[in-house]
This record gives sequence, C-alpha cells and structure tokens, in this order.
Amino acid sequence: MFMDKSSRISGFYKLPVTERLEKVAEFAGLTDEERKTFIRDGKIALGIDAEIADRMIENVIGIFELPLGIATNFLINGKDYLIPMAIEESSVVAAASNAARIARVKGGFHATTTEPLMIGQIQVLKIKDIDTAINAINREKKRLLEVANAQDNTLVSFGGGARDIEIRIVGDSKEKMMILHLLVDVRDAMGANAVNTMCEALAPIVEDITEGKARLKILSNLADRRLARAEAIFDKKTMGGEDVVDAFLEGYRFATLDPYRAATHNKGIMNGIDAVVIATGNDWRAIEAGAHAYAARDGRYKPLTKYWKDDNGNLVGSIELPVAIGTVGGAASIHRKAQICRKILGIKSAKELAEVIASVGLAQNFAALFALSTVGIQKGHMELHAQNLAVMVGAKGDQIDEIAKRMIEEKNVKIDRAKELMKELYSA
Ligand code: MEV
Repeated sequence: MFMDKSSRISGFYKLPVTERLEKVAEFAGLTDEERKTFIRDGKIALGIDAEIADRMIENVIGIFELPLGIATNFLINGKDYLIPMAIEESSVVAAASNAARIARVKGGFHATTTEPLMIGQIQVLKIKDIDTAINAINREKKRLLEVANAQDNTLVSFGGGARDIEIRIVGDSKEKMMILHLLVDVRDAMGANAVNTMCEALAPIVEDITEGKARLKILSNLADRRLARAEAIFDKKTMGGEDVVDAFLEGYRFATLDPYRAATHNKGIMNGIDAVVIATGNDWRAIEAGAHAYAARDGRYKPLTKYWKDDNGNLVGSIELPVAIGTVGGAASIHRKAQICRKILGIKSAKELAEVIASVGLAQNFAALFALSTVGIQKGHMELHAQNLAVMVGAKGDQIDEIAKRMIEEKNVKIDRAKELMKELYSA
C-alpha cells in the first residue's frame, strides 16, 4: 500500500530550493496554500505571523528562523518518509539521508513504541506514618483515578486517561518524602497540560488521605513509560567491508566505556532527533531532558544506541529512548509550518511520529560513527562550512560557490582566506 511513492530521490541536494519544494509537495500532496507557506513569490516565507507569535510567548519582538531541510531515503516499517528537519548545523541532513540510504539496502528501520504513558509527580511531605499513608493511597486508588479522569473528558473520549498510581519513597530517614506517580495515557498529545491539571486536582485529596503536605505537582520529563525503539541492519558491503564494521564497533565501544565520549555520541543522536522535534512543533527541551536522564538511568551516563554484528558480519544498530511528543495540542496545533511538516511526514499518530524520530536518531548516530571511524567528520563539514565563511565575508550568489570551491581546492578553509578571495576576485 506504500509502494507508490519513494523517498529515494537521487540528486535532491543538487536541485534549487523551489524545485526541492515541488518534489516534496508532489510526494506529500501539498496544496497550493501549503506550498506558499514555505515559498511565496519565489521567496522563503515566514510560517507564523506576528500576531500568532505574540500570543505564543511574552514580550515578542520578532521571529527567529532556522533552515528547514528534508532528509531523503528513509524507509521505516516498510513505509517511505521524507523527513523535515529544522536545524542550523551543516551536514546533519545530508548525514541522516546517507545513513537512511545505507539502511534501505537491508530493509530500512523497524521501529516500535510502548503505550503513550506519561508520569505526573506529586511530592508529599510531612507524613507521620509512611506505611499507613501508602496503604491508604492504595485503598483510595480507584477514587483518585476517577477524579483524575474527570479533569479531561476529551482525553478519556479518545481512549486515554489516568491508568494507575505508583508510590515511591525518596530521601533518607531525616527527610523522607512520598512521591506519588500518576500514570496517564495521553494518546496523541505530548500530555504536559493534561497531566499537570490532573496532579493539581489530586493534590488536596492526597493531602487528606496521607495527612501530609503536597508540594510540587508536575509531570516528569523522564518519560520512561513512553519509549520509542528503532533497529536497522547496515549492510557491510555498502559500508565498505567487514573491516569498516569492525572500526565502527571500536569507535562505538569508546562511548560505552567513557561518559565524556557518550555525551558527544548522544549529542549526535539529538542532532537528528531535535531537528525533527522542532520541525513538527514539539518541545525539544522535554525530549532532551528525557533522553539524557534515560541515558543515565543506571547511575552512569551511557550511549542511547547499541551496535553489534549479525551472523553475516553486517552491522546492526538499535536505539531506545523516551519520546514524549504530540500531534495534537500545544504549538503543534497552531504553527502552520509544523502542521505541514507533519503532512510531509504523512504521520497518522504521535506513535508513528515517535517511531520516525527514534529512527532518525539512530540514522544520525550511525552516520556520525561511520564518518568518525573512517574519514573523520571534518571532510563532510568542510563544503558547507566554506560556503558559510564566504557568506560571512559578504559573498552573494555564484560568488559563494566560487570562494568555497577555491578554499576547498587549496585545503585552506579559513575566514582570512575567504576575505582575501573576496578582495582578489570581486574587489570587495
Ligand atoms: C556533531 O554535532 C556531532 C558529533 O560530534 C557526534 C559524534 O561525535 O558522535 C559528530
């Protein structure tokens, strides 16, 4: 059923911006209005106007833009995706597309999620008898869940709602506190509003039941009941042979042994993940917080991906992390470009979007380790870096390509050289 369109668009990167948009519009069936949201009268258009921006946050003085690129070649659970990525860093989109091209050889990414369960926390202090309080909460669980669900009829009507209550005791004997976890199935929402409202409504009842004092009532960004997983096989031949796979695995081992390397390893994963999270109008700080807390869940900071060799010597990679994103509510529902990005993705649910996001994270990490364990990372960065330098010294249009080309040929990609070339070639 997905066979009619492919994300494998060769030479996509060579097309002018308008033609790239045409290809994407064709792939995703964008309307005229939707195309114009990106490019109007041949110019890149703003996605939100001043009035909307002014209602999104306080004290607005303008709109801050990021480039929006499209990663090609992604095949996830048998479906082709073009993936919108909003990011300022060069090479990320190209690297993701390249990794997805290699993953395609062996069938692309296979991704799954758990149920979309978010955790709300109520901190309860000054409890005299913790055991009695725990028993009392357990006895009243049904009533508490009913009160929680009464806060959000819409969520309940879509099949979501509060599912369970768990109790954790933290702190030492001098300062013991009860932390009540409310588990809420938030369906296609990110869920922060629903969960926070429920926690605030429960807090006075919890105080009554425990004879304690409820202090903080807020969701946890360590959304470890809302995980996304992805796996892919990277063909050894396409990678350049089993030696390359071995070199890759040596590079990966470094991250498993050293948190200094693991932080950079995971940063590379987040290059891809954040870019899609931003393009789809989601809260990337929540995703970042969840990812890094999950990476440290065993008490030591670790990589979010795993790699090994299969019986045929191919590289297998997997990723697992919390992905608390929504396709309804929040900025996702008022940001026009974010809405169209979701249409380009063709996603039908937050679950599907989380599966795409996990796959992009794995692709991005594979691409970084592949480059680092072979040619190094700078080669891929240089072309766009050279172009950026040319822009910084005032080059326009063809001048940018000419100055960048010369600096790369001379293997001297530096701002001073860009300035000299600008003077030499264009007397500017
Ligand atoms: C750069 O933004 C990301 C990398 O440093 C990731 C990594 O080292 O794995 C290349």
